[in-house]
Amino acid sequence: MGNECLVEKECITREEVKEALEFASEQIIRNLGEFTDQFQNAFSENGFYKPIDNVGWTTGFWTGEIWLAYEFCGDKRLLKAANSQVGSFYNRIVNKVDVDHHDMGFLYTPSCVAAYKLTGNLEAREAAILAADQLIGRYQPKGKFIQAWGSMEDVKDYRLIIDCLLNLPLLYWASKETGNDKYQEIADKHIHTALSNVIREDDSTWHTFFFNKETGMPNHGATCQGYRDGSAWARGQAWGIYGTALAYRYTKRKEYIDIFKRVTNYFIGHLPEDLVPYWDLEFLRGDAEPRDSSSASIAACGMLEMAKYMEKEEADYYKQTAKKIMKSVTDHYSVNDYKISNGLVLHSTYSKHSPYNTCGHYGVDECNSWGDYFYMEALTRLYKDWNLYW
Ligand code: GLY
Repeated sequence: MGNECLVEKECITREEVKEALEFASEQIIRNLGEFTDQFQNAFSENGFYKPIDNVGWTTGFWTGEIWLAYEFCGDKRLLKAANSQVGSFYNRIVNKVDVDHHDMGFLYTPSCVAAYKLTGNLEAREAAILAADQLIGRYQPKGKFIQAWGSMEDVKDYRLIIDCLLNLPLLYWASKETGNDKYQEIADKHIHTALSNVIREDDSTWHTFFFNKETGMPNHGATCQGYRDGSAWARGQAWGIYGTALAYRYTKRKEYIDIFKRVTNYFIGHLPEDLVPYWDLEFLRGDAEPRDSSSASIAACGMLEMAKYMEKEEADYYKQTAKKIMKSVTDHYSVNDYKISNGLVLHSTYSKHSPYNTCGHYGVDECNSWGDYFYMEALTRLYKDWNLYW
């Protein structure tokens, strides 16, 4: 099973996890002055994040990092800052500021669901339920999927993206909280549609998948942020890994374990020597292409989650793989000097333009906010029996 180079690698130890969480928590506390009333941008520039207002799809990760640091060290400055950001998320959803897209889960789970679970903050609960309402407003009954971006009427926007799997825990949480099944029914349908279409025969994945607007029938896959149509964008594959683990957590559908194994083994089989992927899994060791360290941490979180539901031998394999990946990320990619960066993990790639894709070019070989968040989440999962925000 998996990649030969894994055999030789060492697992991160509990002491190393603790040290990494200590540095990360100190770095987050150091950042509170600049990033309490404002948020970190999605990506750093020359290693440093700039402040932004609460817009875009990534601001929830910064609040989530503050919550994870608070869980680790209990510093009250963190509690105060994270709770004050909940107010910003509440205002954002009430006033519908930049919420016409599917990323309500990325925004509201690590910020507001976390706040409610950790402190019982009722403003956070209300904000997260409103965000779930906003998300189900993007459901396309013909086709049975949540549309990612753009106008709900436009043929050219009639598609789902693999990333959306991480937005769905918000819907399961909202059903449990409100007693209304409408949220989880839509999540169940979306997962079924997504996983029936985005996984290719060789177990790599499409980033996005279009449907026929008139009939709802699946039409074709296409990349946006991968190198080309038909290649495997590393982060899309990583969203697939964590997404199928969460899909199984909430639905208990056995076939999702098999899908998890397929997409995860493909990912592992396409890692370079140090277990941190190039931004697209098409690239091979030695290629002069940047890495995407965020994919490594996202995949590790997915492996640690799915290991909970597997037989011992398989669970051990995925847990150990996650520990080896996190050893490499911590030793070779994490920031260990605040003078070189105000982030946590270097060498991520947000969006790299190629002649064959449709995305812009930014955040290449930089820190990014979800890379930092999932790094902390993976370490937290390794440090203690963690009660998920997702
Ligand atoms: N969800 C967008 C990305 O992973 O870049």
